[in-house]
Amino acid sequence: MGDRVIQNPDSISYLGQREAAEIDELLMGPLGFSVDQLMELAGLSVATSIAEVYKAGEYNRVLAICGPGNNGGDGLVAARHLHHFGYKPVVCYPKRTPKPLYSGLVTQIESLSIPFLSVEDLPSDLSKDFDILVDAMFGFSFHGTPRPPFDDLIQRLVSLRHYDQARQKSPAIVSVDIPSGWHVEEGDIGGKGIKPDLLVSLTAPKLCAKKFCGPHHFLGGRFVPPSIVDKYNLRLPAYPGNSMCVRIGKPLKIDISALRENYISPELLEEQVEADPIDQFRKWFDDAVAAGLREPNAMALSTVGKQGKPSSRMVLLKGFDKDGFVWYTNYESRKASELSDNFHASLLFYWDGLNRQVRVEGSVQKVSDEESEQYFHSRPRGSQVGAIVSKQSTVVLGRHVLRQQYKELEEKFSDGSMIPKPKHWGGYRLQPELFEFWQGQQSRLHDRWFSSHL
Ligand SMILES: Cc1cc2nc3c(=O)[nH]c(=O)nc-3n(C[C@H](O)[C@H](O)[C@H](O)COP(=O)(O)O)c2cc1C
Repeated sequence: MGDRVIQNPDSISYLGQREAAEIDELLMGPLGFSVDQLMELAGLSVATSIAEVYKAGEYNRVLAICGPGNNGGDGLVAARHLHHFGYKPVVCYPKRTPKPLYSGLVTQIESLSIPFLSVEDLPSDLSKDFDILVDAMFGFSFHGTPRPPFDDLIQRLVSLRHYDQARQKSPAIVSVDIPSGWHVEEGDIGGKGIKPDLLVSLTAPKLCAKKFCGPHHFLGGRFVPPSIVDKYNLRLPAYPGNSMCVRIGKPLKIDISALRENYISPELLEEQVEADPIDQFRKWFDDAVAAGLREPNAMALSTVGKQGKPSSRMVLLKGFDKDGFVWYTNYESRKASELSDNFHASLLFYWDGLNRQVRVEGSVQKVSDEESEQYFHSRPRGSQVGAIVSKQSTVVLGRHVLRQQYKELEEKFSDGSMIPKPKHWGGYRLQPELFEFWQGQQSRLHDRWFSSHL
């Protein structure tokens, strides 16, 4: 999942042709990479970038137009990964390179029954048959003017855009590293070249990418070692999590009012609902864990203080049973003070991938000191020290003060002795009085099921 990290384009490094070539030589020389490995990672980055922007459910039919060199190889690898991601790729590879690396890629694609189309067999109107056109014809080492049949293929991508702009419908054009026909440093010199919708820069963006005006610019090729970063003084964005790509350039423009999933989920049928809402909650919680959702135990806790003003924050569920839902916190925090004024509170779980929400309302009590002690000592020692230092809901003097305190305590307890639970730290239990289970359905007709638990 690479979308989300937005970078300022001015703070990123762009490479000239010479630097880009040198970096490739270093990678494939002293740094021990083979061309096959780099091509595999590049193609995978292209496929994951495409999957970030164009969901397979909506944009399924892909045409990968592959040139004779490395750029074409990246396109072949991307087509293979797109197939595994659920897309329906077709490959146009008119000037095959008779080296084992390339014939291997062709065999892999044939073994997946991905069709190859010759230039002559391409449909006259590419926009009718394809949702995505991958331009993997030429990379940064290309000089001069494109020769047949690539000159014509480039023209078809260019004219397709003009033609379809009038009709307001066109397939998305994705360029691998450099839009084919562009100058690696100067960009689209005559202004009549390909105008991709998505540009996937590899290793680092090339200078021409500064002239890219399309809506989506991604970086892929998550393999650059520190020696190259230092030597070329590269400023590259951090890849989020374990993603193979990261969005760079302008942030994605989102129309929040149009953000709407048509949920396709099992219906919440009354006869399948557990009689006891705690059992129903357990079923859904287990589903959320099984679905691999991140922090399925994260919940919004809403409290209302003396003045009747509500406040919400996320906390982590640490246990639940017939007696209620437990979380741990600082007893000197705002939520603690509000709960001491008003013990009514509500919890909200939202499991995005499953289109499910559960509301739980009830009354809150502190858990026993023994229960808090027991949980406190089950936590990693670093978290125990953190709980002593942490001052929630108050303005602290500075991060360095906390860090210093943390360091001192870490040293104090470095002998492995028991870390005493601070008095200000402990658990709460919400005893439920009302549950609402919500299951998103297609066409906004959602299933809801209430249960009081008094
Ligand atoms: C996903 C997530 C989980 C959190 N879990 C806890 C938690 O279990 N306990 C806690 O005290 N704060 C937790 N926090 C921090 C709280 O949201 C909040 O910032 C803090 O408790 C102070 O809240 P208060 O000033 O309203 O008391 C979590 C935050 C997030 C985003």
